[in-house]
Amino acid sequence: MKVLVACEYSGVVRDAFIAQGHDAWSCDLLPTDSPGPHYKGDVRDVLDNDWDLMVAHPPCTYLSNAGARFLYPKGKLNRARLKLGMEGKEFFMLLYNANIPRIAVENPTPSTVFGLPRHTQVVQPYEFGHPVQKRTCLWLKGLPPLRPTRVVRQRQSSKVPGNWFNKGGKDRQKNRAKTFEGIAKAMASQWGAFLQQERITV
Ligand SMILES: C[S@@+](CC[C@H](N)C(=O)[O-])C[C@H]1O[C@@H](n2cnc3c(N)ncnc32)[C@H](O)[C@@H]1O
Repeated sequence: MKVLVACEYSGVVRDAFIAQGHDAWSCDLLPTDSPGPHYKGDVRDVLDNDWDLMVAHPPCTYLSNAGARFLYPKGKLNRARLKLGMEGKEFFMLLYNANIPRIAVENPTPSTVFGLPRHTQVVQPYEFGHPVQKRTCLWLKGLPPLRPTRVVRQRQSSKVPGNWFNKGGKDRQKNRAKTFEGIAKAMASQWGAFLQQERITV
């Protein structure tokens, strides 16, 4: 299957699909962190390249509920921030409405201000083998919800040894945006199998 992993520099989801035998490409404005098929540039350049499935991770900085407090600092609407949020929504919707038969868009809980469509499901890293809490919404089209693969006890993320997720420094935001490997593997095995099955039964 031809799989596009949009807005991914880490290669984590791309490599999980490649490991399952798919022709998977990541695409990001940034170069890929891990060598593999990657288009460095705007995802709009490659959206129409006949993909069977797209998994997209659009930026959430101005859309997320966690960032909503910056919209009304001291009770007054920050118009510049609202504009950035509306641009974020436009990009999100462009990916969500792409002409690709199977689509998964991933983002944290969005602020209701932006009126995004209702997400299909919520997943947590601790349902996929990582003892960390990070509420992640999935908007799915033509795909079944992900099933947990290994539920583990949550721990405070700062106490998980060797945990890149909570590392500080200049790459903090980049580290926190990286997809958890357990979730990537579940996407590749469950959605990959679903697509193969569909192809057999059609
Ligand atoms: C929240 S991060 C997702 C990171 C991803 N989960 C990973 O593991 O690499 C959003 C990414 O979208 C990328 N991005 C933003 N606008 C883009 C565009 N027009 N085309 C391609 N990538 C874009 C950013 O460079 C950033 O790396």
